[in-house]
Amino acid sequence: MPRERLSFNSGWKFRRVSSGSGSAIVRDGSCDDWLEPMGKFLLPEPGSVTERPDSSLGGTVEYVQADYDDSEWRELNLPHDWGIEGPFDLNAPGETAKLPWQGIGWYRKQFEIDEADLGGMVFLDIDGAMANPLIWCNGAFVGGWRFGYASFRVDLTPHLRAGGDNLISIRLENLDESSRWYPGSGLYRNVWLVKSSRVHVEQWGVHVTTPKIEEDSALVCIETVLNDETGGESAGKSENAIYAPNTLLRPLELQHRVFEANKEGLIVGEALVESARETVEIQDGFAAHSSICVTIDSPKLWSPHSPSRYVVETQVWEDGQLQDRVETLFGVRSMAFDADNGFLLNGERVMLQGVCLHHDHGALGAAFNVSAMRRQLLKLQEMGCNAIRTSHNPGAPEMLDLCDELGIFVIGEAFDCWALPKKENDYCTCFQRWHERDLRAMVRRDRNHPSVIIWSIGNEIAELWHPEGWKLGRRLSAICKEEDSSRLTTAGYNFGGAGFDGMQAAVDVTGFNYKPDLYAEFHERNPTRPVYGSETSSCISTRGAYFFPFSDERLEGRKDFQVSSTDLHTADWAFTPDAEFKGLDENPCAAGEFVWTGFDYLGEPTPFNADMTNLLNFSDLEERERIARELEEQRKNSPPSRSSYFGIIDLAGFEKDRFFLYQARWRPQLPMAHILPHWDWPEREGEHTPVQVYSSGDEAELFINGRSLGRQKRGPLQYRFRWDEVYYEPGEIRVETYKDGEPWATASRKTPGPASNIVLEQNYPREGEADLTYVAVSLADEKGVTLPRATDELSVQVEGGGELIATDNGDPTRLEPFQSSTLPLFYGKAIVIIRRKPDTDAGIKVKVVAAGLPEAELSV
Ligand code: GAL
Repeated sequence: MPRERLSFNSGWKFRRVSSGSGSAIVRDGSCDDWLEPMGKFLLPEPGSVTERPDSSLGGTVEYVQADYDDSEWRELNLPHDWGIEGPFDLNAPGETAKLPWQGIGWYRKQFEIDEADLGGMVFLDIDGAMANPLIWCNGAFVGGWRFGYASFRVDLTPHLRAGGDNLISIRLENLDESSRWYPGSGLYRNVWLVKSSRVHVEQWGVHVTTPKIEEDSALVCIETVLNDETGGESAGKSENAIYAPNTLLRPLELQHRVFEANKEGLIVGEALVESARETVEIQDGFAAHSSICVTIDSPKLWSPHSPSRYVVETQVWEDGQLQDRVETLFGVRSMAFDADNGFLLNGERVMLQGVCLHHDHGALGAAFNVSAMRRQLLKLQEMGCNAIRTSHNPGAPEMLDLCDELGIFVIGEAFDCWALPKKENDYCTCFQRWHERDLRAMVRRDRNHPSVIIWSIGNEIAELWHPEGWKLGRRLSAICKEEDSSRLTTAGYNFGGAGFDGMQAAVDVTGFNYKPDLYAEFHERNPTRPVYGSETSSCISTRGAYFFPFSDERLEGRKDFQVSSTDLHTADWAFTPDAEFKGLDENPCAAGEFVWTGFDYLGEPTPFNADMTNLLNFSDLEERERIARELEEQRKNSPPSRSSYFGIIDLAGFEKDRFFLYQARWRPQLPMAHILPHWDWPEREGEHTPVQVYSSGDEAELFINGRSLGRQKRGPLQYRFRWDEVYYEPGEIRVETYKDGEPWATASRKTPGPASNIVLEQNYPREGEADLTYVAVSLADEKGVTLPRATDELSVQVEGGGELIATDNGDPTRLEPFQSSTLPLFYGKAIVIIRRKPDTDAGIKVKVVAAGLPEAELSV
């Protein structure tokens, strides 16, 4: 029977508990021995791994008992993040997002198994569980994991019974002081039930590479690992086991066919090529390997402009019976990093125009959603972004599928710390036991994705400062290479010395975090080593907020826990976007940059964050002490801030001014111009109100109410136009830009009159259907000019085939729940997030009211 992979997301029961229910087993490590065999197939010598003592761990906990009455528990579907439900706690530390993600949560689900399935294998595949998941099937402990960002599998086979009374119970625990940002909580990614024959392709067991690419052909090499679980851990333990262990080798037949894939990743047309049927011998309870290459003609290369994909279909037979069939998507493209010429795709230099991204979806929390992710990626592409760094942990599998589909490069990053801590209870507590499995699992899961260009073994790990740190770095790099010899390794170094003291040799490509002025020296002293900005800028701003007088001081521009949106202000250790651009333009050897961050994210509200891990960015003792004092002061102020100011796009998904600064640089052929600030300053008549313009043009002329304020040419290493001597008068401020002397793009901002109506616009999807719809709310005057400072309180209602699931306005200090149907506009904007109800085609109607204005309605 070929495999079935079924969504296991619906029909769960959930409950948070404060303590008890086996609390100690995570904290004191007493579950470790029971977890030891987890993922052992990932290790080079799985045979040496100790078996689980038995299945009794936690067996007496009431929540794993079949007869426990969970009728009072909440019913929900996955993915689910209990932390995002709040409430916010003003007094909680900012890095936690002030949301209650810590603590223990239990999930239970009843499910049915057919008699016929018991002859094969039944696995539970979890794409990510935050954190420390422990899993029971019908009261028997079946496994768990530690790292909340890892995908893993547990084998349910020996404990299942035919019929409907099978029970899965999962306990999760998030420890305090375990994350520098909002990690989310619970079963926050997809969960699958996989049924397969006892002979099957191992998890992530097909590895496709394209080692030789020519214009008219590409060599496609396929390595396959097959497992036979007959006589393995599960065999004989199931009441219905029908196989007896056998030590003889049995012949299996294996065949691959290669097809083109469509945009959705589905097979189209006839097979382009098929491999010969190969005989592979396997023994009960063991694995077998196969390696074979085929050639495809006239390959369509994968690139950001044309993200073509192919599928390998793998079939396994025994005695003429099909035992398994899996599809593996891949792409044909070559990649290289060069010390002089940066990153090369298919032989041509491509500048990495990247952003770092955390994994949350703003108001939806960490609960993974394909539509929410696609919206983020499309917005980034609109800006000209072509790459993301999954900071600082493996992302959801579907995120990589999206990047493959959309043509976005990915740095797959494993860790934010190794054995030395950043937070007391972070990954350091299990690094020694788990890092090899976690790193191998990341690479093995994601190595077929054409979008992945390199593996990052860590971000700003504390071992950088340690003289022996390079040894561990080198070991982690070697693990990545063992899993995938087709890609290089990197890491994000915040300690500049690590580029010169030997640590640089731990990886192939050196990533500098916030070191635009080190590229030149690095290149000179390491002439054969490629380099890039793995994390750049950390500019901070609040969308729509401008504080006067404008200041060029990086650390100014802050007021009422917001940051002026002039893109001149940064974190203490950081740089303006312009300084990073200059660093790259003066050093063409650098492969590009990954800006911190594409979107605002939950937690880490620097500069209103008191998290002492910030000190890790400073090597100078005196500076460290100064910052420590500042952070201490900050803590006393109890800032209300709960999400970041770093985003180029705010938490609600609205572009900040900076979006256009990057767009001007990253899409030089797109005629565009953008003016800041807005032009609604009734209290500033006649006052000094400087104006900036971001444009892909090279010359610009600014007009105030039709009068020219001068034409400027952008000089080398200048990235924005500035008119510092402007005095506010209501009306219109307009810019006309030029490129190579020809008219290029114009933009204008007008002073609005009083609000006359509420404007509702479908913000996502712009075309087609999606399970989530985002509607943007703003106010306009009689002539349709938007009000950039509106703060009106809105009340939202959704009718028909949709339900309101969240609202947001991008204010990093708002402590009202994201699920609220009322909220104020923040600098003129708010977003409404609607989920289509399953099983209905009914239209969705959104109604928004605000005092003194006509009700607005939009059908989506
Ligand atoms: C870096 C760190 C990021 C984030 C950023 C904020 O040092 O790698 O995770 O904290 O600073 O500027």
